[in-house]
Amino acid sequence: MHSFTYFYSINLLAATLVGASHLRIPRQSTVPKLVVAHHIVGLTANYSVEDWVADISLAQANAIDGFALNIGTDDYTPQQVENAFLAAEQLSSSFKLFLSFDMTSYHCAALTDADPLRNLTLQYATRPNQFQVDGQAFVSAFSGETCTFGQGDVAGGWRVGYTQHPDIAGKIHFVPSFFVDPATFSQYAGVLDGDFNWNSAWPIQLTASAIPNLLPGANLNQLDVTAETALQKLIGSFDPDTAHITSLATTQSSRTYMAAVSPWFFTHFPPNTYNKNFVYDCDEHLWVSRWETLIANRDHVDFVEILTWNDFGESHYIGPKHDGQALPPGSEAWVDGFDHTGWLGLTSYFATAFKTGATPPIEKDQLVMWARPHPKSATPADPVGPPRDFQILQDKMWAVVLATADGQLTLSSLDADSQTFDVREGVNKLSLPLIPGGYMRGVLTRGGQTVIDLKPDGFVFNPNPPAYNFNAFVANATAA
Ligand SMILES: *[C@@H]1O[C@H](CO)[C@@H](O)[C@H](O)[C@H]1NC(C)=O
Ligand SMILES: *[C@@H]1O[C@H](CO)[C@@H](O)[C@H](O)[C@H]1NC(C)=O
Ligand SMILES: *[C@@H]1O[C@H](CO)[C@@H](O)[C@H](O)[C@H]1NC(C)=O
Repeated sequence: MHSFTYFYSINLLAATLVGASHLRIPRQSTVPKLVVAHHIVGLTANYSVEDWVADISLAQANAIDGFALNIGTDDYTPQQVENAFLAAEQLSSSFKLFLSFDMTSYHCAALTDADPLRNLTLQYATRPNQFQVDGQAFVSAFSGETCTFGQGDVAGGWRVGYTQHPDIAGKIHFVPSFFVDPATFSQYAGVLDGDFNWNSAWPIQLTASAIPNLLPGANLNQLDVTAETALQKLIGSFDPDTAHITSLATTQSSRTYMAAVSPWFFTHFPPNTYNKNFVYDCDEHLWVSRWETLIANRDHVDFVEILTWNDFGESHYIGPKHDGQALPPGSEAWVDGFDHTGWLGLTSYFATAFKTGATPPIEKDQLVMWARPHPKSATPADPVGPPRDFQILQDKMWAVVLATADGQLTLSSLDADSQTFDVREGVNKLSLPLIPGGYMRGVLTRGGQTVIDLKPDGFVFNPNPPAYNFNAFVANATAA
């Protein structure tokens, strides 16, 4: 069995709402806002307690308050959940852990299928690092919207088997990501204590077939300013959140809204393995744009879950790969050589702003740049074929500067191709088209002095790649 990932694209379009009446979820809690990251326990088969200590320490150093432990039915799952809790206890830290049942891995047709879920929940409910909301153990899930646990309907199944079962009733705060139309949330009274909006992380409504309607007349190979502005409104937008928050307010029991944020999405598994081959549009600095949206709307969001710490197979990891850590078979092709910890280095600034409402001081200039390694139109001899919706992506390098003061950033892809931009104190988002055969370079200057000169080795925008790879190559540098 594998429990790594499980994401079947469910293109529930965010309802287009009239007006912008963001209803506040009436949560009676004094629990402060938190930022957690989704951790795929299915990729930790060989983790020692020390590996968990390393992940927890690194997450904490970047203002991440906890891990959602995505678990399935792998035989090592109980041991690794225990190791995670042991590590947090060993650190005597306030780091939060909670279970996130991957319901694409568990059986959930019979009432007895709920036994292991309750069992694990109760085993950890009172451990010191278990995340508690209003005195109840916080529990999440990925999917589960087809589980009946032997009852007549899904809500009844979850109520009888899990949330209202006498062993567990009153002890948990259940905030799953059910892939259902939010208009049906009211059917889940007694099940949902809140909603985790997994798909809010990406603009999933941007598909090749939807683009002509969403961006009429746009040339995605050379966006004009009007089209780019329209695209920027869609990428990282709060509309998917509004649809969920508004619907949650109509349910009796729900009090918590957890939004998602992610830097990327590319997966490329052939039909004979996981059979997933698609991208989401993560252009226009999605990682930063989405954070800015969540910060601007922080009054309506209780918690944020980062997707993900380590889901290498879908390219949205921000944590490091550990020595000896096995990847989902086949994903080495797009993961090896593609470290994403540069994105992790931006997390502290935005997570802190989300939690406190105040932007933290920038003590050192920081430059993070990323790009895909080949033009979208490249045609390698790759039997899996190009990922669905690749056409909508732009062949650009994306740069973010956290600047201590005003300055200039020069981006280039060839010596003969550079552009200089003014940079202001604070967050700056810039981009430059990539030239086939070119590199990626960013030079930050101030008062005629070079502050950062970043030209990562190992990146070339290769017009003749050996296989499709729409993962991001991420480079970063911090001023001395
Ligand atoms: C529940 O957990 C205990 C260990 O804590 C184990 O012995 C038992 O078999 C588990 N039961 C189920 C139904 O998973
Ligand atoms: C565990 O580690 C061994 C030795 O490094 C490696 O061969 C194996 O693939 C790993 N297994 C998993 C599931 O990570
Ligand atoms: C890039 O970011 C990572 C994560 O914050 C950090 O550990 C590393 O030192 C950074 N690299 C440079 C060159 O600043």
